[in-house]
Parts: sequence; C-alpha cells; structure tokens
Amino acid sequence: MLEKLTLEDLDVAGKRVLVRVDFNVPLGETDGVTVITDDRRIVSSLPTIRYLVDHGARVVLMSHMGRPKGQRVEGLSLLPVAGRLAKLLGKSVTLAPDCVGESVQELVDTVQPGEVLLLENLRFHEAETDNSPEFARQLASLADLYVNDAFGAAHRAHASTVGVTEDIELCAAGVLLRKELDFLGGALAQPERPFVGILGGAKISSKITVIDALLEKVDTLLVGGAMSYTFFKCQGHEIGKSLFEEGQEEHVRRIQEKVGSSSGVSLVLPTDCVVASDPSAHESRRVVTYDGIPADLEAFDIGPETAERYAGIVRSAKTVIWNGPMGMFEVDAFAAGTNAVAAALVEATAAGATTVIGGGDSAASIQKAGLEDKVSHVSTGGGASLEFLEGKVLPGVAALTDAS
Ligand code: 3PG
Repeated sequence: MLEKLTLEDLDVAGKRVLVRVDFNVPLGETDGVTVITDDRRIVSSLPTIRYLVDHGARVVLMSHMGRPKGQRVEGLSLLPVAGRLAKLLGKSVTLAPDCVGESVQELVDTVQPGEVLLLENLRFHEAETDNSPEFARQLASLADLYVNDAFGAAHRAHASTVGVTEDIELCAAGVLLRKELDFLGGALAQPERPFVGILGGAKISSKITVIDALLEKVDTLLVGGAMSYTFFKCQGHEIGKSLFEEGQEEHVRRIQEKVGSSSGVSLVLPTDCVVASDPSAHESRRVVTYDGIPADLEAFDIGPETAERYAGIVRSAKTVIWNGPMGMFEVDAFAAGTNAVAAALVEATAAGATTVIGGGDSAASIQKAGLEDKVSHVSTGGGASLEFLEGKVLPGVAALTDAS
C-alpha cells in the first residue's frame, strides 16, 4: 500500500498543477525529421493528464530528455513530445521556451483550466540534476500543487523529483507512479507462489543487488542472457568469445553458496546456448551445450532445451518478475529464447498469474514480440525498476506528502 497522497486526494479544479512526467522517449530520424520511435512513456502518462484536464486543473508538465548536461541541445528539445502528446490527447499542448524564468512564469499564468503546457527539457539546466534549491524554488513557484508521475525518474534525487517538494505543500503520486508501485511492490510483498524471477542482460555486476534481493523472495530464479556466460566461466567452463565480466568470481561463488541446498530456492542456469562467430554470421549459428561452447565462437541466446525448460517453469508460476532479455533479441536469429519466455509469460498471465516486466531491454523485447498488452504490467522504468527490485527507497516517492 502506497502511504502517500495520490491524485484523487487533491482538489485540483482551477489550480496550477505541476506534473513531473518521464517523457524521456527514444528518438530517431526520418527524412531529416526527429521522430519518436516508442511513445509508451507518453501513452502511460495519459490517465494522469486526462484526469487533471477533466477536473479543470491548469496543467503544467515537466520532463527531462536525454542527458544534455546543462547545455541547450536542440536535438533534445521536447518539441516532438509536445506534438505527439497533443495528438494522443486530442487537444493542443503548448511547449514553453524554457522551464524556468520570467517568460515561463507569464506563460503559466495564461494557462486556463483544462489546458496543458509542457515545459522545455529540465536538463538544459545543470541545476536540475544538481538538485539546486534555488532552481527547485523556481519550479515550485509555477504551481499550487505537485504530482509526480515519472516512475522512470523516481530513483533520481533531482530538483524536479525531490527539491521541488520542499516548496509545495501537497505533493501526490500520479496514476502511473501508483500503478508501478502497486505492481512491483505488490509482487514483492505478497507474491502468490510459486514465485519465479527471471534475470537476463549482460552484466552480473549491475544486477548483483537484484539477484541478492530476489533470492530472498522467489522460489526459483532463472538466469539467462550474457550474464550466464560469466557464471559458466567462473565454474571453469570454456565460453569461447562470449561476454565475460572480469572480477565477478567472488559474487558468483557467494550467489551459489546462498542457493545451497538448505535455502529452498533454486537458481537455474541455461543447459544449452546458441552460438555463432558474430551476430551477423548466421551460417555459423548452431546450438551447443553450456559446457561445449567452441573457443572461436560466441554465445548470443539460450538454446531450445533451456527455452523449453524456462517456459515450463514460467507457465506453472503464479507470480513472475522478469528483468533482462535471454539473448541478443534485437537480432531475429537470436531472439527465440527471449520470445519463448515472453510467450510463456503470456500463457501464465492468461492462467491467472501476475506477471511484471521491468523496464529497459525486457520491456523493449516484449514490445518487439507485440505481447506487451498480454502481461499484467510492463514497467516504464529501467533504472528505477531495478533499484526498486533491489529494495531501495526511491527518492522521488519518499519526497511525496504522507497520506496521513
Ligand atoms: C530512464 O530512461 O531510465 C529515465 O528516464 C531516467 O533517465 P536517466 O538515467 O538519464 O536519469
């Protein structure tokens, strides 16, 4: 249960409501024009924005985009976001020339109930990431009420996520932030069992705390992706040219000790993998056992035997948390393992399980498979969902007003 104020606790009619959203969306270029290649974060913020519009709030949105490090970088303007948001909302969205300053203040004063203004990229000012109190005060002066709906940035203690809450009396969680915390937190706090965790991705070091935290909660932890090759090498196996993360021997030893027979938790590693000389050399692609990776080849996916085994374990789970792909899913020839796990999650969901997917690559992989609407929840936060799964308090959530 989120013990913070939520949107419905606020009386927003006629008020200036400053909403921190995470519109840090991937951008591409088509015919020299900047385009948004994935608008999931914008779509996910619509329930909060629509609620405010429908309840007559004067809506002022703010977000970061990329990491411009205090410079005004035109390629990181929120202009394409304003356009996409206007289309999704079916109403005009004005983009302010900046996020603080006199002209912005004047513009905010012109916003009428039910209208939406988007401030320009917060990170054009270094003061944002520095959590400068003066900058936070300037942001706060634009509003009567504050709502944080930026789960993806809730692990950052910045001016727009933390500092600003010092100067606004009522600070509440938006619909998306609450939904994220309900799903991720609910799965961890009261999981229906069997509870299965799936971890993939390249590096053990970036996930070590998550592995530790999940091992305390799950019944089974399935490991895939490039991090499995570091496990194999630490166990003394040849991994050829597969990714190896130096200096992880101690971590691997500790993890294996932790799942020793007495803990009741099983840690499952792949038994086969798909190898090739490089990701584009499809003719060299073949399946080998985990301890039979040839010295001149590299592993890019879990093998079919592992995929079937993992899918079976997922299908019989009642709660699943997945973070990190099983292989190089961006390349179709190495996407089968990730897709098999994704399909099993869909089946488990249909059979009544709660299935939660961390943001970042795992979210991208389920989207690529077109299955994101068939699981319980796909997080919009990459780093934020990882930190949450590690058991850390997210500063952007801690800073909100207590419900009591
Ligand atoms: C993300 O994409 O994970 C969030 O928008 C946070 O971005 P950051 O890692 O640049 O703070």
